[in-house]
Amino acid sequence: MSNSQSTPSLAHEQTKVAVIVGSLRKDSINRRVAHALADVAPDGVRLEIVEISQLPLYNEDLDGEGRVPEAWVAFRDRVKTYDAVLFVTPEYNRSVPGALKNAIDVGSRPYGKSVWNNKPAAVVSASPGAIGGFGANHHLRQSLVFLNMPILQQPEAYIGNAGSLFREDGGLAKDATREFFRSFMAAFVSWIGLVAAARRPGPAAAA
Ligand code: FNR
Repeated sequence: MSNSQSTPSLAHEQTKVAVIVGSLRKDSINRRVAHALADVAPDGVRLEIVEISQLPLYNEDLDGEGRVPEAWVAFRDRVKTYDAVLFVTPEYNRSVPGALKNAIDVGSRPYGKSVWNNKPAAVVSASPGAIGGFGANHHLRQSLVFLNMPILQQPEAYIGNAGSLFREDGGLAKDATREFFRSFMAAFVSWIGLVAAARRPGPAAAA
């Protein structure tokens, strides 16, 4: 895992996954979950957090009048460079945090130039509550369907009681959680491969 401040390289870099964390909190559980998922990603897969806290609220006038904030341009340009997107988010009032929705809106415009189009995606929600951010997870999926992002269906990841996921030293408290994260990342990477294979021109198209 890396972010815009530090970008360590992995040995066999093949697949690049943008990670969008829905919480802006420095001690965010979801950010820690994102790092834990990166730790168990299959070889050849690189996860990088793409920050969203710097994005001004979306205002269509700014795109229309050519007064596009630099932060929007940088965010759009950066997301375009990834093979897939992993969303890791808390639930706010049974829905998606405003900062995450804003990032999705910024990336979706100008009309016809969405950076999300066709990018394979997966959604993880984590909450100290019992139902693991189910509402946010599915509200987010509603937007991703509209944005034409092929979304991993299974396993679903609603991480409940997440306040006790990590030990004080930052490690995961339970091996079972690590194994679930490992299987989740393996399924997501297979999904990214399937989507890429489906897009490759077949013999008929190549002829
Ligand atoms: C919350 N929280 C929350 N939790 C939940 O399970 N369902 C909800 O609808 C809400 N609503 C909500 C609204 C707002 C405005 C805040 C600030 C919080 C609690 C939330 O899950 C908790 O603060 C998490 O720790 C937030 O995730 P991070 O920041 O730790 O990743």
